[in-house]
Amino acid sequence: PLSAMEQEDKIMQDLGSLHGIPLYKSFIEGWPRVKAFQARPDDLLISTYPKSGTTWLSEIMDMIYHDGDVEKCRRDAIYNRVPFLELKTPKETSGVDQLENTPSPRLVKTHLPVQLLPTSFWEKDCKIIYMARNPKDVAISYYYFHQMAKIHHDPGTKAEFLENFMAGKVPYGSWYDHVRGWWEKKQEKKILYLFYEDMKKDPRREVQKILQFLGKELAEETVDRILHHTSFQEMKKNPAANYETMLPTLMDHSISPFLRKGISGDWKNHFTVAQNERFDQHYQELMAGSDLYFQME
Ligand code: A3P
Repeated sequence: PLSAMEQEDKIMQDLGSLHGIPLYKSFIEGWPRVKAFQARPDDLLISTYPKSGTTWLSEIMDMIYHDGDVEKCRRDAIYNRVPFLELKTPKETSGVDQLENTPSPRLVKTHLPVQLLPTSFWEKDCKIIYMARNPKDVAISYYYFHQMAKIHHDPGTKAEFLENFMAGKVPYGSWYDHVRGWWEKKQEKKILYLFYEDMKKDPRREVQKILQFLGKELAEETVDRILHHTSFQEMKKNPAANYETMLPTLMDHSISPFLRKGISGDWKNHFTVAQNERFDQHYQELMAGSDLYFQME
């Protein structure tokens, strides 16, 4: 049997390049099947840049799909209830396999940039919900995620990681291109574009937006139950939502829990004044000409 160290070596992956996007090598190996993926018309796609509230939105969607039935939403871990389309690790089954065995209507998770989404989602005119989060909080959340999720190399110092993040030298590439790409696509396609910061400020209003997008109505007390069940505190203690059921060789929650802080503006506890100025300037340059705005806290 492999020692723990050897197993870690196997999990940790160099990044390759998928059409110019830095990505885990095993995901790239699985790409041909992802590209050819057959979406179903009633699939709903949850799309995000990593660390933008994917798991939160996924739990909300599963609750909505099950009319607020908490017990049904404990049937399995969130990463099985909402399969991750492009997931492929050397050992595990792939996201595509998982999805093929999932009955409709399916919830599908992806982090792919818009230009790489399998064409079938567009052809079948699937509903898509995109959630974006301000880049400073994403960068900090991603930094801690690199430490706890063992697929990653050591991210180095926070300063080093910030530079890589700004340069798009992280899995899934440039945050700026990702949020802008999906934002622009919204002009022609059925995409509900949400923000983590709005969800924090007024989750009820955001859930109502989702319901309207789905053409679904739920009783007030059902919405109450969904909001309670998907609060940070509830999700953090829910083994079906907090990723603690993942193999310890894949994620080490003692380094940093998957549900880490769950707030907006945590970057203020991490950025130096100089880093913040540099980040702001770079942000202005890369977001110039866009009507996409972020609340940084
Ligand atoms: P932090 O690291 O800032 O705490 P993703 O699911 O896309 O990987 O995003 C993970 C981030 O979403 C983490 O951010 C996590 O704590 C936060 N998150 C998860 N569930 C949440 C919830 N119910 N409310 C607020 N934030 C949540």
